[in-house]
Amino acid sequence: GTVLGIEGTAWNLSAAIVNEKDVIAEVSDMYRPPIGGIHPREAAQHHAKYASYVVKGVLEEARQKGVDASDIDAISFSQGPGLGACLRTVATAARMLAISLDVPLVGVNHCLAHVEVGRWKTPATDPVTLYVSGANSQVLAYRMGRYRVFGETLDIGLGNAFDKFARSAGLGHPGGPQIEQFAKNASNYIPLPYVVKGMDLSFSGLSTAATAALKDHSMEDVCYSFQETAFAMVVEVTERALAHTEKNEVLLAGGVGANTRLREMLDIMCTERGANFYVPEKRFMGDNGAMIAYLGLLMYDSGNVIDVENSHVNPNFRPDEVDVTWIPRDFE
Ligand code: ATP
Ligand code: FE2
Repeated sequence: GTVLGIEGTAWNLSAAIVNEKDVIAEVSDMYRPPIGGIHPREAAQHHAKYASYVVKGVLEEARQKGVDASDIDAISFSQGPGLGACLRTVATAARMLAISLDVPLVGVNHCLAHVEVGRWKTPATDPVTLYVSGANSQVLAYRMGRYRVFGETLDIGLGNAFDKFARSAGLGHPGGPQIEQFAKNASNYIPLPYVVKGMDLSFSGLSTAATAALKDHSMEDVCYSFQETAFAMVVEVTERALAHTEKNEVLLAGGVGANTRLREMLDIMCTERGANFYVPEKRFMGDNGAMIAYLGLLMYDSGNVIDVENSHVNPNFRPDEVDVTWIPRDFE
């Protein structure tokens, strides 16, 4: 099959067309906030303004590769989680497309799309996934018809914790890449609050404590200590999920996954446990249209489509609510 998918849960509006073999075309347009973080209404306005640009663009790119609009079997879109205003804008565009092309509509869980594109674009088959982005931080793994959430943040996502710190430290947005650079030149580790409750995580207090530590310590040392603490937390929960599920693969997903130190720590943990560690290409790590089109394709192929009348978005859509129709029940 061939599916056109649209992602727009936050800052990145992205449309892609995929088939079982590969990504045929992808066109994105990023909303860049003038200052500070993301303003949900302005991001939604951006998505409304550029929806026709990305959709027309991706159709044109596909046409040059011999795939016409009439070849598209379904339209998929991010149903959640994400910013309500952004989700609604993208859903409206997806419904219109499905109606005008007279093809089914598929509502995709954004978190599961990160997992599935990783399973598609790396050798991982049945991984424990660490999904760390701006708004999300979760450890997920498949078990008996569902992706279970083994651990997750109880407050903000790790990326947002970095961004919040960066904002109060007077660094620009996004914070993650800059924190990574400063951390490389550190000379001391400063103890910061390490908060793992059961299998769950909390980053808000850590971010505030890092900001406070700037009074007495260098930016380099604080950034390094913030990273070491936060990454040790997510690696601990990932390792315990591996032990609990008895799986032997770890997949990294989400924008924070760009961080070299996080990759190194996960790689060490996996080596010690005899597990394989997989990281997809950068274009499939942050939010991208290809992952929405691809999970849309898996869902379409397994009959998991929705009516336009029942295609409401869900800003708090949890991955464990989804009945996984695209993986055989006897898979494990
Ligand atoms: P989602 O909707 O899934 O929450 P998002 O809109 O936050 O996604 P992503 O591209 O997945 O988008 O992630 C962006 C986040 O990743 C930002 O918070 C940014 O600070 C963080 N980030 C990017 N690069 C790095 C890095 N090298 N180290 C640490 N964090 C990083
Ligand atoms: Fe994401």
